[in-house]
Amino acid sequence: MSKSMLPIFLGLALASAVASCAIAGNAGQAIYETHCSVCHGVDGKGALPGVPNFTQKKGVLSLPVALLMKRIEHGYQGPGSPMAMPPKGGDASLTNQQIKQVLDYVRSEFGG
Ligand code: HEC
Repeated sequence: MSKSMLPIFLGLALASAVASCAIAGNAGQAIYETHCSVCHGVDGKGALPGVPNFTQKKGVLSLPVALLMKRIEHGYQGPGSPMAMPPKGGDASLTNQQIKQVLDYVRSEFGG
């Protein structure tokens, strides 16, 4: 590669990195709106009794990411909680990558 090509090459590499980030963000949001917002609300504050408010300071989103990943994957019901979080939000076809994308979205959008 000639020297004059290098900036063009770097520019393209950067542009595609930015584009793939944006796509991951949109994928997470799309999953959230399709599978999670019924219970968690578009604003993340919880649309039904027993659903945690994601926007609450020191709320559930302050838990470790690995734990949240597990609870989304396998479902979760805390002691005395009136309602359970269904495994994968009720869609068994969600992959671990999609769970990661939706959790990234939830954390960046509501986690403060
Ligand atoms: C049928 C309603 C419902 C759907 C759909 C749903 N959730 Fe939940 N979710 C809950 C409830 C209820 C809880 C609280 C469970 C508890 O604390 O016992 C919860 C808890 C959580 C928690 C916190 C877990 C913890 O450690 O306290 C996260 C994170 C979460 N949900 C993410 C998601 C994501 C992401 C989706 C979509 C893929 C989703 N939920 C879909 C009802 C739902």
